[in-house]
Amino acid sequence: MATRIGTEDNPVEMLEHLMALDFDAIEAYNAAIERLENDQWKAQLATFRSDHERHTHELAPLIRAMGGNPPSGPGAKAMLTQGKVRMANLMGDEAILKAMKTNEDDTNTAYERALAHCPPEACEMLARGLDDEHRHREWLIATLEGRPVQEMPGRTTSTRPGSQPPPL
Ligand SMILES: [Fe+2]
Repeated sequence: MATRIGTEDNPVEMLEHLMALDFDAIEAYNAAIERLENDQWKAQLATFRSDHERHTHELAPLIRAMGGNPPSGPGAKAMLTQGKVRMANLMGDEAILKAMKTNEDDTNTAYERALAHCPPEACEMLARGLDDEHRHREWLIATLEGRPVQEMPGRTTSTRPGSQPPPL
């Protein structure tokens, strides 16, 4: 599903929408983690959720400093909710990862666009955020393709279960 976030003319509005999208991603990760059976995948997705949580913590003061109102949740638009709801009816872990991959397509696009039009005070944060989004999407694609994936602890998390069997 396509997103228009990052195409706004007003930079404060753009960051507010981006923050709402991060909240939406957190909701989608909550839904995915709840439904996954593979514990290793659950743990990995929890680190990605932490990245999105950190984005909201970093975006809020930027938005306030620019005179905007940081959203407190995904809002009425809930860009990724479709994926999340669809997930409820899907069967199996792979289907859940595929739904999360389409959600990450959106967050990647939104961060790419936002960075391309970044207000100076937000560029550094948006560049770091885009790195996170690339990493999330890359892990989902590699895991779905059955390629070996390097451990990817989130930037805010340093622990990972070490004694579990490989995911595939
Ligand atoms: Fe992400």
